[in-house]
Amino acid sequence: MSVESKVRPVTTAKLAEMKRSGEKIAMLTSYDYSMARIVDAAGVDVILVGDSAANVMAGYTTTLPITLDMMIYHAASVVRAVERAFVVVDMPFGTCSGDEQVALAAAVRIMKESGADGVKIEGGEELLPCIRKILAAGIPVMGHLGLTPQSVHQFGGYGLRAKEEAEAEKLLRDARLLDEAGCFGLVLEKIPAELAARVTQAVSMPTIGIGAGSGCDGQVLVVHDMLGINKGFKPKFLRRYADLFETMTEAIGRYVADVRAVDFPNENEQY
Ligand code: KIV
Repeated sequence: MSVESKVRPVTTAKLAEMKRSGEKIAMLTSYDYSMARIVDAAGVDVILVGDSAANVMAGYTTTLPITLDMMIYHAASVVRAVERAFVVVDMPFGTCSGDEQVALAAAVRIMKESGADGVKIEGGEELLPCIRKILAAGIPVMGHLGLTPQSVHQFGGYGLRAKEEAEAEKLLRDARLLDEAGCFGLVLEKIPAELAARVTQAVSMPTIGIGAGSGCDGQVLVVHDMLGINKGFKPKFLRRYADLFETMTEAIGRYVADVRAVDFPNENEQY
């Protein structure tokens, strides 16, 4: 099923201009209509329909199980809510690791069936054939280097990446290649701040950091983490802006007590 495709105020050109003028880019994830409305209304520039939906929406421990159909469902729900932000959607695990035609078909489905503005792909030089194919079809692509959670089994965990010179040099080379290929932006996840600042200077596309220091052109967090909905996840890079787990359990607890005490509904809350 195809949906309407709109050009919203934040475009790839606007994001490039923000980098040139030194205006920082605020990016957050969203996976559903109601949250995306709030995130968009608060002025976030880029909304990522991340495959972290596998964790925070579906309860999986890694991002690997989420399917293309699930990503499209989340993306279409977000797009229906958004009036201003640029909406970028993660290509799920496996869609870009082989045949370029398969990768293109997945990206085209995301664009046609969700109405999103672009896709994000985890990985560097190895994925360039797929990335070039998708770019050639007119689909904006955002890169993602450093801790790429889809490679968790290869990394053996979610630790800091590119601490060693060889991995740092490869990351810098990958970033330059993605930039030359025409990616509109690059997520840098959990790498040393100094390396992220070096990458940011070396490329023309905006870099968006998560656990990568303040030298990036913008920052991204998972919305459930920064709002304190997801209680257990407490990495050093995460700043909590609210404790919604506490706020919501307290409110729901009061509702349960009111129902049990036959205090809800009262006579003004019935027909
Ligand atoms: O899926 C996701 O939420 C992400 C961010 C952590 C950048 O890729």
